[in-house]
Amino acid sequence: MKKLFVKTYGCQMNAYDSARMADLLAPLGYAKVDAPEGADMVILNTCHIREKAVEKVYSELGRLKTLKAEKAREGGRMWLAVAGCVAQAEGEEILARQPVVDMVVGPQSYHRLPEMIARAAREQGRVLETDFPALEKFDSVPATSTTGVSAFLTVQEGCDKFCTFCVVPYTRGPEQSRSPETILREARQLADKGAREIVLLGQNVNAYAAPGSDGTSWRLAKLCDAIAEINQVARIRYTTSHPRDMADDLIAAHRDNPKLMPYLHLPVQSGSDKVLEAMNRQHSSDAYRRLVEKIRAAQPGIALTSDFIVGFPGESDGDFEATLKLVRDVGYATAFSFKYSRRPGTPASTMRKQVPEEVMTARLTCLQKLLLDQQHAFDDSRIGSTVQVLFEKKGQRPGQIMGRTPWLQPVHLSADAALTGQIRQVKITQRTANSLHGVLA
Ligand code: 5AD
Ligand code: SF4
Repeated sequence: MKKLFVKTYGCQMNAYDSARMADLLAPLGYAKVDAPEGADMVILNTCHIREKAVEKVYSELGRLKTLKAEKAREGGRMWLAVAGCVAQAEGEEILARQPVVDMVVGPQSYHRLPEMIARAAREQGRVLETDFPALEKFDSVPATSTTGVSAFLTVQEGCDKFCTFCVVPYTRGPEQSRSPETILREARQLADKGAREIVLLGQNVNAYAAPGSDGTSWRLAKLCDAIAEINQVARIRYTTSHPRDMADDLIAAHRDNPKLMPYLHLPVQSGSDKVLEAMNRQHSSDAYRRLVEKIRAAQPGIALTSDFIVGFPGESDGDFEATLKLVRDVGYATAFSFKYSRRPGTPASTMRKQVPEEVMTARLTCLQKLLLDQQHAFDDSRIGSTVQVLFEKKGQRPGQIMGRTPWLQPVHLSADAALTGQIRQVKITQRTANSLHGVLA
């Protein structure tokens, strides 16, 4: 048995890809291990979205160099592959800068990994594979052998939106959707292996559109309805959505499909129309407000979350105020917020009026305080009520189990680990910094 260590950076789509790469290499005799020491193959599945993410990869490569040399001294060989969006964006540069790297593989080429390993071994050379073929990478991969209670399933990849700050359209390529048949097959396999919740993934998941063998065009709402027909699947979620693609049939599904959870990650990035325009988000802040109203009319209890960027080039104090106002108007269950990070090759990186670091820091602190207050208010509003919790795994403390509410809040309680995979009524008793506690009702 050969040892495979995969380190995942960034988004859930990378986590899904890492799991499938491991599945793909299993027939070649690779079994996953938890640490890189002594591994026969190390894959860094990288993220390019913000600058820090890239720096982390280069420093990890420095550490791996030592481990690779140790392995060689013992007469072994550690293959080192860089995958993901840094591979896509800086493939040539990585090979030039880091001689320890044997393989660079872009996000659309993972299905070629076995062939790449064979080629590298045969030629004792280094290989680079970063084409954008049609989305086929995992369609022929054998069914995954294990799964958690909550399973990721990638249905769509890539992005045609070209927000001016973002590298995704360049690293992940154009929007592509997998066929409904392959997705449904994979969903059934996941359910057979014990998944009770399916999380549909895509950079622009609500732009999902693919022809089905029934001759009609499938969109996300229809896909969710079809997955809901799988008995063992109790919950369906999807992420990440763009406001522009939030179609009426999908909003209606939040009212009509009882398995579709009342939770929606709908990034808005900024509350200023001037900044939204410069970001090329293709909607105004009021259009977003109206969209939120429509969604809440269909599903009043829905938990909304978002991503925000502070310090986009040209963002004034007034623009930032508009973001705070939008946050107050909408009311989020939780949200991610970031300082703007200048990404080479994107239009925003050459815009004038870049915002000074200390201004960004102050704005981020202010926004995060507001968002945290909202998160706590949202969590507090559950205290005393009885909610359905899907148990996912053992808790950190002995005798504890961890599950999630329909609104994705983690809940810890004392109960038998045998409840893993089941849904029970739980009375929420208290909130801690980032989770809830409760008792079986
Ligand atoms: N700088 C800061 N944040 C960014 N994001 C994407 N690109 C950048 C960037 N250049 C954030 C956006 C996006 C999330 C996944 O990452 O908020 O929604
Ligand atoms: Fe990036 Fe914008 Fe596409 Fe999201 S919608 S992946 S932020 S370009």
